Amino acid sequence: MQLRYVETDAASCSAPLLAVGVVEGADAGSGLLARLDEALGGAVARALDSGDMRGKRGDEVRLYGPEGGADRVVLLGLGKADEVDAEAVRRMAGRAVRAAEAFRLEGLAIALDGLDGVAPEARAQALAEGAGLAAWRFDELKAEKEDDPVVSVISVDLVGTDDADAYARGAMTGAAIARGANFARTLQSRPGNVATPTALADEAVRMAGAVGLEATVFDEARMREEGMHALLSVSRGSAEEARFIMLEHRGGKEGDPPLILVGKGLTFDAGGISLKPPAGMEEMKFDMSGGAAVIGAMQVVAEIGVKANVVGLVPSSENLPSGTATKPGDVISSLAGKTIEVINTDAEGRLILADALTWGSRMKPKAMVDCATLTGSVIIALGHHAAAVMGNDDALVEELRAAGEASGERCWPLPLWKEYREQLDSTTADLQNVGGRPGGSITAAAFLKEFVGDATWAHLDIAGTAYGEGKLPYQRKGALGFPTRLLVEWVRSRAG
Ligand code: BES
Ligand code: MN
Ligand code: ZN
Repeated sequence: MQLRYVETDAASCSAPLLAVGVVEGADAGSGLLARLDEALGGAVARALDSGDMRGKRGDEVRLYGPEGGADRVVLLGLGKADEVDAEAVRRMAGRAVRAAEAFRLEGLAIALDGLDGVAPEARAQALAEGAGLAAWRFDELKAEKEDDPVVSVISVDLVGTDDADAYARGAMTGAAIARGANFARTLQSRPGNVATPTALADEAVRMAGAVGLEATVFDEARMREEGMHALLSVSRGSAEEARFIMLEHRGGKEGDPPLILVGKGLTFDAGGISLKPPAGMEEMKFDMSGGAAVIGAMQVVAEIGVKANVVGLVPSSENLPSGTATKPGDVISSLAGKTIEVINTDAEGRLILADALTWGSRMKPKAMVDCATLTGSVIIALGHHAAAVMGNDDALVEELRAAGEASGERCWPLPLWKEYREQLDSTTADLQNVGGRPGGSITAAAFLKEFVGDATWAHLDIAGTAYGEGKLPYQRKGALGFPTRLLVEWVRSRAG
């Protein structure tokens, strides 16, 4: 998809469709709405005066465009002016793309001017994100219908003249973020037989080459040499080899401690010997969502040239039952040297993350953030509206909460008091991999905390937010790319 900023007046731009946001109480007497009203011979004023367009969120009026301007115009109600934030703008762009799809159009323009509640650069970024995310589909595994081909939006122009430099910057950033999140969604959407750990690593390496990241991939032999026995223990039941993927962006000074992003890349989670029930098991292809988001975020970091050293780590494996699989009660070792009693082989994410976090902590990071579809328990705690965030540093947790708010990918803190660690005490090993049902998302984080050494660290449990119904205008059912945007926002906030 081509997404660009064009410095031109929306009221006279040529496009198959022009989308314009309208807030409550807007009048056609000034600004863009006045120019558009004049071009349309009073049609905008009539839409407002008739009450068909009151500016309420969800109001939508479709008009035919002016001579010499856009072919069609869609007015999109945004709600109260003082409640229009970046997320409202993202959703507006999503609705604009859905309107284009309803008309079976391949291109559209969206007006930047007039949405004054959000600063120009952030406004352009949010429009680009919303449009880019909305236009994405996962269709690589479907045959093309020759008699009734699917029409996709392939070009979006953001148009406006109020603040060209800020608009251009924001559009570039937002387009890169949407591309990264969409790359994550594509990786997420691929089924387990396509997106194996090897395939995931190959995709990461290909992307790295295209954007100028350094990529390193460990195979199982190398993991064994390094002592990554927790990661290897999960892969034992699978015929597919595990991979440990490392991506490096050198945007800071040489030797500057990196920011590290770690993502769970479990390409299919059947539960292992502690087998999951069949209903809904197919969704466990999404158990690599954290890894996908880290790979997508690293692509963005490289594309927009973030001025910091950033490292992405993705431990990737399948979790299947077999005659060679790890069994409940087995005691395994880990890169950190701690022994782990595997009570439940379905608590495998924390095992592959343990070695990745230890690896990361040895790089002496400035801060390390992991994201993982780690527990069903987080869905009980927060539903599908926010990820849980926990860590060993309150300031970092607050940074992530703020980045979540700004990016529209929210997270909310849960406590990580030391009392929770006691639920992981084992009679046989240094710790066990499950802590019972109470506080399941927290005890999972308490487990991870044992493997981060002295790094400043936080963890996002994204089991309830990485994929889903996709009810927002810029989403579709399935992969949501969460938390690619949040991670990019956090890294950018750190890089200044
Ligand atoms: N991948 C799952 C967590 C999950 C659950 C993700 C639902 C998305 C939706 C994870 O590996 C898992 O199986 N966790 C167990 C942990 C339990 C055995 C302590 C869980 O949440 O039930
Ligand atoms: Mn599991
Ligand atoms: Zn899992």
